[in-house]
Amino acid sequence: MSKQFDVVVIGGGPGGYIAAIRAAQLGFNVACIDEWKNDKGGPAPGGTCTNVGCIPSKALLQSSEHYDHASHHFAEHGIGLSNLSIDVAKMVGRKNTVVKQNNDGILFLLKKNKVSFFHGRGSFAKAVEGGYEINVAGAAAEVITAKQVILATGSNARALPGAAFDEDKVLSNDGALRIGAVPAKLGVIGSGVIGLEMGSVWRRLGADVTILEALPNFLGAADEGVAKEALKAFTKQGLKFQFGVAISKVDTSGDGVVVTYTDAKGAEQQLAVDKLIVSIGRVPNTIGLNPEAVGLKLDDRGAIVVDADCKTNLPGVWAVGDVVRGPMLAHKAEEEGVAVAERMAGQHGHVNFATIPWVIYTSPEIAWVGRTEQQLKADGVAFKAGQFPFMANGRARALGDTTGFVKFLADATTDEILGVHIVGPMASELISEAVVAMEFKASAEDIARICHAHPSLSEATKEAALAVDKRTLNF
Ligand code: FAD
Ligand code: NAI
Repeated sequence: MSKQFDVVVIGGGPGGYIAAIRAAQLGFNVACIDEWKNDKGGPAPGGTCTNVGCIPSKALLQSSEHYDHASHHFAEHGIGLSNLSIDVAKMVGRKNTVVKQNNDGILFLLKKNKVSFFHGRGSFAKAVEGGYEINVAGAAAEVITAKQVILATGSNARALPGAAFDEDKVLSNDGALRIGAVPAKLGVIGSGVIGLEMGSVWRRLGADVTILEALPNFLGAADEGVAKEALKAFTKQGLKFQFGVAISKVDTSGDGVVVTYTDAKGAEQQLAVDKLIVSIGRVPNTIGLNPEAVGLKLDDRGAIVVDADCKTNLPGVWAVGDVVRGPMLAHKAEEEGVAVAERMAGQHGHVNFATIPWVIYTSPEIAWVGRTEQQLKADGVAFKAGQFPFMANGRARALGDTTGFVKFLADATTDEILGVHIVGPMASELISEAVVAMEFKASAEDIARICHAHPSLSEATKEAALAVDKRTLNF
């Protein structure tokens, strides 16, 4: 007789493993199936985020930032260095260790919460009385049954037509995170989040990086003021951008890669590089899930169709994370996983899409929550804006990191905070205050009247809130 579970989660990324843990906490008998393999063929739960996404990219960003500081900024602190070098193999090795620590941590957490872990591919076999039969194809193939199923199968990198990823010259995020030596010339297609983060890593280590972007503008989802400031900083650092391009050919027949494209003026151009990262978005992944066996509905992008509560068209089948609509972010996947487990238990799990923070871990960092100035204008909302530069913040000056600003957007009548946009040092950490404030429907004045430690970068947040009422104290 097959093993029976109350809940089977397919996919052990941030959406899946967190859903499994929360469901187990709520008293369900839970299994989690994940097929990711480490380099020895063993289990490596954590999904894209842990293996080839959030965690390894931040490890490499940290290493390369240390190198950049040592190369360019130590001298101003009076620290002299000679014979500075970078051992890329060691840097990538450290990144792999960080990834493994996270894989092991997740296995431990699943065990601690009594979630049964299956290493292999989960697919629908058929619907049965009161649930579903799931095939697990792995080292030990078996069939398990579930009363309810949570699908958290994530996403894959989108390839350019005619330029399949070979992970040697044409790289997805996976190959971009394990380049073995600094390429002299690196091309990046797409100036989105991955392009900027990975482009920054290899630019800091000495690569000549050119980013080709199809859209005419930079970072359309960010506030225009933030995008403008960030582009200025990235260009000054040496990243080269071309906007409004149309790629026509990627040729890998020679030593490197030659990209042929039409530039914004319609002229044909060629870019010759050693390696090419293609980061033009991601596609929902249902490969191997066998959705046809049970009639699971997908949309025309291949995403699993869900309602606002993450319910699919099938009774007892839910889906969360990158494989459904909404931003492809680890924390969004986690929140959906928790909410679904709670809904299964009859509770009222909730995900507030209006307060999901975005962070780009470049230098300067970019972070925002809520609506941008251009969105508020398009929505016809009357708002007040307040902005404070890090140049006028004592802690930023002491850090030697004064690029950027904090910007508040508040309702013109009620003063409720509608959006907070940060470009500058530690924006990733500073944005949390804005998220909390917006969750509590705070006004800009609430933040302006709260005591912030001195000297701290968070004082720039308080000052930007004061700026909404045109009464900054330090600018
Ligand atoms: P995934 O993490 O993709 O996990 C899905 C899991 O399901 C995988 O382990 C996969 O092997 C497994 N699976 C799929 N099908 C099956 C099957 N049939 N049977 C068994 N297992 C299966 N987001 C952030 O919020 N912050 C960041 O800093 C950030 N950085 C990123 C950097 C990069 C380079 C990339 C590529 C992404 C980054 N993201 C970041 C996005 C983040 O990784 C995703 O939003 C997140 O991983 C989605 O989680 P998920 O659980 O939906 O899917
Ligand atoms: P993206 O959606 O952020 O950016 C893709 C860029 O490629 C866009 O600017 C788009 O206009 C451009 N593009 C699309 N087709 C193109 C073409 N044919 N030629 C040239 N440019 C083209 O996608 P990206 O960078 O691949 O990242 C995928 C997702 O992963 C992100 O949207 C995000 O959800 C997640 N992620 C999150 C991170 C974070 O939170 N810090 C870090 C990295 C990824």
